Amino acid sequence: MKDRYSPLLRSGWDYVEKVSLEEFKAADWALLNRQRGTYYAEEQARQVLRMLADSKDDATFGYMVNNYRHCLQSATMAMHDGLEEEDIVVALLHDIGFIACPSMHGAFAAALMGAYISDRNYWMLHRHAIFQNLHSPELPGVKQHERERWRGHPHFDWAATFVAKYDQAATDPAYDCAPLEVFEPMVQRLFARPPKPRYPTD
Ligand SMILES: [Fe+2]
Ligand SMILES: [Fe+2]
Repeated sequence: MKDRYSPLLRSGWDYVEKVSLEEFKAADWALLNRQRGTYYAEEQARQVLRMLADSKDDATFGYMVNNYRHCLQSATMAMHDGLEEEDIVVALLHDIGFIACPSMHGAFAAALMGAYISDRNYWMLHRHAIFQNLHSPELPGVKQHERERWRGHPHFDWAATFVAKYDQAATDPAYDCAPLEVFEPMVQRLFARPPKPRYPTD
């Protein structure tokens, strides 16, 4: 069966040969669920890291560093400042969707990590591009103070700090970034956390 269907099937694992979900019986779902946990434990962080690593040699459209280096610098700065591991991983992945999903890249990162991170980081990721406006006064059409709509929110100060220290100032080609390998175990530990439910209004 394995040779006949796909070289990607894994030896030693069982597979449901039905081709529509409507045909799946309880025993089939049980089989999937038996293997699902192991699969995600092995694959989830690896695939996330691969998304970032894949952009390593991509060109930049005008900044002195590409998005990969920006992410590495952000994470390295967070690490050097002694931030907690979750904040370092959030820094590493905050712009992982910057090219693939530009206008909603904050929501992209929030969705990617949302089940595993604090409310403060979830909130910050969603809004970090708007907080960035403060630091881009001459960007055409910018609403520089748009972040003020959230002034007084418990996570306002963290979003302001993250953007000021680890985002808008993380495009220096001379900065000595730690290699991605340094952050890999941190990413693995984050995605190994038990996921919590998130709702669009959070
Ligand atoms: Fe961003
Ligand atoms: Fe950024």
